[in-house]
Amino acid sequence: MSHSSQQPHRQRILVLNPKGGSGKTTVSTNLAAYLANQGHATALMDYDPQASSMRWLSKRPDDRPKIFGVEAHKPNVNVTRSWQLRVPPETRYLVIDSPAAIAPHQLYDFTRDADAILVPVGTSDIDIHAASRFIADLLLKAKVNRRTGNIGVIANRVKTQTVAYRNLMRFVYRLAIPVIGVLRDSQSYLHAADEGLGIHECKRHRVTKDIAQWQPLTAWLEARLSMLEARESAMTAATMEEPEVAVDSKIIAFARPAG
Ligand SMILES: Nc1ncnc2c1ncn2[C@@H]1O[C@H](COP(=O)(O)OP(=O)(O)OP(=O)(O)O)[C@@H](O)[C@H]1O
Ligand SMILES: [Mg+2]
Repeated sequence: MSHSSQQPHRQRILVLNPKGGSGKTTVSTNLAAYLANQGHATALMDYDPQASSMRWLSKRPDDRPKIFGVEAHKPNVNVTRSWQLRVPPETRYLVIDSPAAIAPHQLYDFTRDADAILVPVGTSDIDIHAASRFIADLLLKAKVNRRTGNIGVIANRVKTQTVAYRNLMRFVYRLAIPVIGVLRDSQSYLHAADEGLGIHECKRHRVTKDIAQWQPLTAWLEARLSMLEARESAMTAATMEEPEVAVDSKIIAFARPAG
């Protein structure tokens, strides 16, 4: 089978922070809407029993680019877990919204297949304190390697000129994890969410500042995902070339027993 006939690798974007209200659902839904509007087959998986992402999806108008929803939070005894978590085969991006209060021992299972991990963090002292514990768990217990560059922090509900914001930035800087986005506290998110939309789908003049703030975030994500995709294609190509290398006459000659 030629590589071009294969489905492209599905990329999993996990939005994670056990601190309640940090902005996981806001980031997940806005990102899913952004990707769908870019023309990508996108799915949104909701692990939160509060099902906020799925509620958002249920409000989504029919004339907007479709997003496939997966209710991962619902225990379903009638189907296997893999059936419950299935997405359409053409799905290119899978955005995963996670619950608050996820236990440290569950982190490994959540994170091990993620191509990118986005961590929204609020700017209050409580948020920063919780985030420092959580990121330590992520690095030590879930064995997420920060050098792979798959974690990005999103400072959320930011009032830029505040001490709290400066503290957050200082904290993240010390961790050597990039801040990939700084999102202000904006009513636009509430209005968009009410209608099942992302801010990229709202009337431009109302969301100009917010869309500008998403630009570095989506640029980081797109760069990360296309780097992984290039690596994946190179590995697939190398695997496919193997038989040709095996029949190379020089190699056969080298492998032949002497005498
Ligand atoms: N940048 C923002 N500006 C204004 N409101 C925001 C912003 N980000 C999040 N909110 C609001 O803050 C509340 C909590 O956000 P959100 O639901 O995204 O957090 P969460 O991490 O998913 O919470 P939970 O842990 O309960 O699932 C929501 O009402 C949301 O609309
Ligand atoms: Mg949520």
